Parts: sequence; structure tokens; C-alpha cells
Amino acid sequence: MAEQLQFSGTSREELYSSLLPQLKQLVHDEKDLVAILSNVAATLKQYFQFFWVGFYIVKDEQLVLGPFQGDIACFRIDLGKGVCGTAWKTKEVQVVPNVEDFPGHIACSTASKSEIVVPIYSSESKDQVVAVLDIDSDCLNDFNAVDAYYLTELTEWLSTYF
Ligand code: SME
Repeated sequence: MAEQLQFSGTSREELYSSLLPQLKQLVHDEKDLVAILSNVAATLKQYFQFFWVGFYIVKDEQLVLGPFQGDIACFRIDLGKGVCGTAWKTKEVQVVPNVEDFPGHIACSTASKSEIVVPIYSSESKDQVVAVLDIDSDCLNDFNAVDAYYLTELTEWLSTYF
């Protein structure tokens, strides 16, 4: 259970540094992708108090809503659209300090102020994005290179389950 995870420290970097080992322990020998992504989203939401955490998975040439925690979100996003579609198209992490400044940002909630989207690559090729991890904050400028570093480490591990 997520409640069994023991994170030490209180800063976000301290929380991140103990996140991955504990998630690996939590997942243990589970192989089901939906089950794993669901508990990863719940863990990130619970421990970091993010506003919205979820996955969009590439299916039928679109990003389709996957396991998430937070408000109701849009079902599908096209390549290059919004922050998620941009991360998919560019294959690069998108850090958005103020969503209102991002051209074409898709607003699922007006409470969302800043956002980070991390591509999840196929374990066989970094040229292929199979999903994205999308995290929204209700604070402006809430994400930086530290988030990008640790969340990339997390998504590299998750890519092995796709
Ligand atoms: N803001 C995202 C859409 C997904 S919601 O934030 C959950 C975007 O612009 O791609």
C-alpha cells in the first residue's frame, strides 16, 4: 500500500531521492501496466500534494487518458497539441512555469497554474514515445530541473513495463 511508503525529509528533492527505490519495492513483482501506473499516480499525488497527476498513453495515433489522480481530464490529445502533445512530438520534457503563457495549453482545470510533462520512451528506442507523465500544480512556477531529473529517472523505469 502507498501508506507503507516511508519518505525521509521534507524538501521536494529529499522526497524525490527516496521515491524510486520505494516505488520499486511497492511494485515488486507486479507486471500489470494499469495497476502500476495507478499506484505511481496515487503516490506522486499523495506525497507531493500535486494538483493533478496522470498518464496519457499513445494509442491510435493519439494520447489517450490513462490512470490519473485529480479532476476529470480530457480523454484524447493530438500530436503537437497542448503541453502533452508537445512533449510527445518533441520527445522532450516540457516545464511550463505559467500555463497561460504556453500557446495551445489545454486547460482541464482553471486551478492548474504550472505543469511538467515527461515523455515515456519505448524501452527499445528513445525515438518512440509510448506515453507521457503529466503533472499539474496549482502554484505558478512549481517545477524546475530537479523535477525533470527525478521524473525522467522514474519514467525510464516505468518504460520497462510498456
Ligand atoms: N494541460 C494538458 C492537458 C491535460 S490536463 O492538464 C490533465 C495539456 O496542455 O496538454
